[in-house]
Amino acid sequence: MKLLHGLALVFLLAAASCKADEEITCEENNPFTCSNTDILSKGKVSRGVNQGGLDYYHKLIDALLEKNITPFVTLFHWDLPQTLQDEYEGFLDRQIIQDFKDYADLCFKEFGGKVKHWITINQLYTVPTRGYAIGTDAPGRCSPMVDTKHRCYGGNSSTEPYIVAHNQLLAHATVVDLYRNKYKFQKGKIGPVMITRWFLPFDESDPASIEAAERMNQFFHGWYMEPLTKGRYPDIMRQIVGSRLPNFTEEEAELVAGSYDFLGLNYYVTQYAQPKPNPYPSETHTAMMDAGVKLTYDNSRGEFLGPLFVEDKVSGNSYYYPKGIYYVMDYFKTKYGDPLIYVTENGFSTPSSENREQAIADYKRIDYLCSHLCFLRKVIKEKGVNVRGYFAWALGDNYEFCKGFTVRFGLSYVNWEDLDDRNLKESGKWYQRFINGTVKNSAKQDFLRSSLSSQSQKKRLADA
Ligand SMILES: *[C@@H]1O[C@H](CO)[C@@H](O)[C@H](O)[C@H]1NC(C)=O
Ligand SMILES: *[C@@H]1O[C@H](CO)[C@@H](O)[C@H](O)[C@H]1NC(C)=O
Ligand SMILES: *[C@@H]1O[C@H](CO)[C@@H](O)[C@H](O)[C@H]1NC(C)=O
Repeated sequence: MKLLHGLALVFLLAAASCKADEEITCEENNPFTCSNTDILSKGKVSRGVNQGGLDYYHKLIDALLEKNITPFVTLFHWDLPQTLQDEYEGFLDRQIIQDFKDYADLCFKEFGGKVKHWITINQLYTVPTRGYAIGTDAPGRCSPMVDTKHRCYGGNSSTEPYIVAHNQLLAHATVVDLYRNKYKFQKGKIGPVMITRWFLPFDESDPASIEAAERMNQFFHGWYMEPLTKGRYPDIMRQIVGSRLPNFTEEEAELVAGSYDFLGLNYYVTQYAQPKPNPYPSETHTAMMDAGVKLTYDNSRGEFLGPLFVEDKVSGNSYYYPKGIYYVMDYFKTKYGDPLIYVTENGFSTPSSENREQAIADYKRIDYLCSHLCFLRKVIKEKGVNVRGYFAWALGDNYEFCKGFTVRFGLSYVNWEDLDDRNLKESGKWYQRFINGTVKNSAKQDFLRSSLSSQSQKKRLADA
């Protein structure tokens, strides 16, 4: 496999600086009236472009190419300019389609000569649900009764997620259409990223559990993949969500259907599914309840899915299931017409409460990566799934959405107090050897067993 590298172009690229001669007035106390952030003139190409931002990304892309690293660029990784949220609630309004198109146009024009892999929107499922149903992510909208922590500034958890998802699909498809028409000569590829999960029946002898797992598949993957392949939402969603689910006009359906050259698929975990009544209408209802499914990491016999993924004393531990990546890949191939696939994220976090030595001895991350890569190889070989690349999440410890610096996802350790102070972790060294072996000899399998051989190292460390 080729060495790939993802980077997220911040939407702020199209941001001009403040005009120096205009006075900025800010309130020191409630009620704050700073919502009119026009004065920052960010967010719209028509208001000016930040040349410093463009220069920064040119340098970054050039440096990657120099090192033979293929850049995959994500246009929107949930970082909407605040001014577009303030002006018209961002993806809740169709105005976003034109602004996103202008921004993408600028990026293709500037960088398209050297970037040949474009991702429109990261994890289509995430902003509608976490941003507009439960309100834990930006912009933080939800229904008042859902807002137990008092952090949503407004919203409707039953309706807004569907509108936002719809506008995301239209914005995505508009940008793909632009790329295919205006920038065809650049000869690149473009697609969205889906967060995927696999769903297993909570009780495999119970037809209701089996149905719940497939229903969850439709609400999780079908919500986006049916429009992207057929230009309409799944029938089961139409039935259950009814008039809260927007419709595509004929023209829009045509625009959205087939609007990708490849699919980026992120995979982390699998869950068990069982039926659960959907309490709509109710003041505490969210769009995520419409599937009528309860998700757990243990099944009817009380068995956990696999090794520990994240320890969480508040909302419960999660567990991982490497074979899930096999099922997801097979499902996408079979159900959605054998697409070209890149696995755009797959990885494992450790708590930042670990000290440096513990963080670097990350044999559990090697177990996670090697077990998933093993099932990925198996599904490519057995089912002929067209997977052309794999990105480990992440290259280095990073500032994680919602979790900040409380977890570490990196193949290399980063000292938050001194960012130049970094070390490859054991997983980074393993991954380096794995890639080296794969590039030279794709049949070589030794490294997929490397976590077993690391047992002796683990022991030595414990002795030390
Ligand atoms: C959300 O919108 C729907 C449809 O307009 C409405 O029936 C429902 O009461 C609203 N929910 C909340 C919590 O405002
Ligand atoms: C979508 O179309 C269906 C069938 O024509 C209709 O019943 C439904 O109310 C429409 N939904 C919206 C949001 O307009
Ligand atoms: C990569 O493989 C080559 C030849 O097999 C070897 O000389 C080199 O040290 C390896 N590099 C790493 C980082 O493992």
